[in-house]
Amino acid sequence: MTSNYKIKDVGLASQGQISIYLAESRMPTLMKIRSSFEKHKPLENISIGACLHVTRETAALIRTFSLGGASIALCASNPLSTQDDVAAALVKDNVSVYAWHGNDSEYYDCMRRVLDQKPNILIDDGADLIVLAHKERQKALPTVIGAQEETTTGVNRLQIMSCKKLLKIPVIAVNNAKTKMMFDNRYGTGQGIISVIKALNTLFAGKTAVIAGYGWCSRGMAMRAKGLGANVIVTEIDPIRALEAVMDGFRVMPMAKAIKEADIVFTATSCKDVLTKHHFIDMKDGTILANLGHFNVEISVEDLEKLSKKKVKINEYVEEYELPNGKRLYLLGEGRLANLVILGGHPSEIMDLSFSIQALTAKYLTVNHANLENIVYDVPEEIDKNVAIAKLETMNIQIDTLNKVQEAYVKSFEEGT
Ligand SMILES: NC(=O)c1ccc[n+]([C@@H]2O[C@H](COP(=O)([O-])OP(=O)(O)OC[C@H]3O[C@@H](n4cnc5c(N)ncnc54)[C@H](O)[C@@H]3O)[C@@H](O)[C@H]2O)c1
Repeated sequence: MTSNYKIKDVGLASQGQISIYLAESRMPTLMKIRSSFEKHKPLENISIGACLHVTRETAALIRTFSLGGASIALCASNPLSTQDDVAAALVKDNVSVYAWHGNDSEYYDCMRRVLDQKPNILIDDGADLIVLAHKERQKALPTVIGAQEETTTGVNRLQIMSCKKLLKIPVIAVNNAKTKMMFDNRYGTGQGIISVIKALNTLFAGKTAVIAGYGWCSRGMAMRAKGLGANVIVTEIDPIRALEAVMDGFRVMPMAKAIKEADIVFTATSCKDVLTKHHFIDMKDGTILANLGHFNVEISVEDLEKLSKKKVKINEYVEEYELPNGKRLYLLGEGRLANLVILGGHPSEIMDLSFSIQALTAKYLTVNHANLENIVYDVPEEIDKNVAIAKLETMNIQIDTLNKVQEAYVKSFEEGT
């Protein structure tokens, strides 16, 4: 057990161990990578500083890094997503963890403690750790060989830094791997809409669900809301994505119009102020608001607080806001990632893919960092493909391969009509 940590209670470790055990049993691809890491120690002498949701699945990844030879310091990428029992189990496993559920006031201090341990690889979810290192802990940067970013919002921020030539380390956009984005963002976040059911046990069938954005996350949410019988309206700012939503059979309109019909609103745009004062005023009595985008800026909680004459905590996850016009709105998880706050994050089977990519990307960085520039890279296609192959194997699913004739045909242009 390490003596470097700040968590809620080390005594919760045995519960955390059971929780991690269950996650690992559903992450066979990562476990395969773990066996190879244990044998070959690709991360020997590497120190990792991670800022991730401290969940049971993250623990499975952290343990894989450990068995691969790395030392690790971990802090949380969201004040409300830390599972305190998992944090305790990791401390027992010798990981320096600085995270506890509800840590708002020391959120950045925990990141500073991670950076002070001079990590060689930064693993981030939302780019707060990497941005902090650039802004005020530059002395930590010379020993960093590279960073990995887990989510769309983080990649967007880092790409802006790269364009402005402010990035001082190479970054690999784990989020942009196909086996991450098309599955974690679509099916993971898609299933995340059931956080509304867990929080309020509300019926979807016959309700109008307004979904802001039609990116990977929102496509998944729209698909699942439709499957539960909701009438789905999509709002967008991108004409191509809006067109795609229309052709997928959804109504598309501006938020100002959609909001008047909404029973439930979901946001996942990576933008801010998607819902503000004017939208709240126009909502129906009883509208439920859930954000599944990375930061808690998509639904303006500030506007909601200012506008409301009364606030009542309905349960652990939901606050009822009463507006001066008498209407009541229900906000989930303080406007933070509802699926993380309420469901404990994506199912392990999904994180099996995302964290297999993370593990193999760390190995890739240790071998290739000297050839990388200080820009944002995609995950090499080979890693992406290998993760898909391994996942299919664990699911006992076979696919076809090209025979010789087909192989020659697809590589030629001569044969036509
Ligand atoms: N909840 C989770 O577990 C989870 C998982 C993965 C990603 N995320 C987060 O979800 C968010 C969305 O990720 P993504 O991969 O779908 O991104 P994406 O870039 O694929 O999609 C975002 C979409 O929102 C649209 N958009 C932007 N501003 C808008 C606005 N003001 N109104 C309407 N539409 C707008 C964009 O045009 C785009 O089509 C990000 O913040 C990401 O980090 C959350």
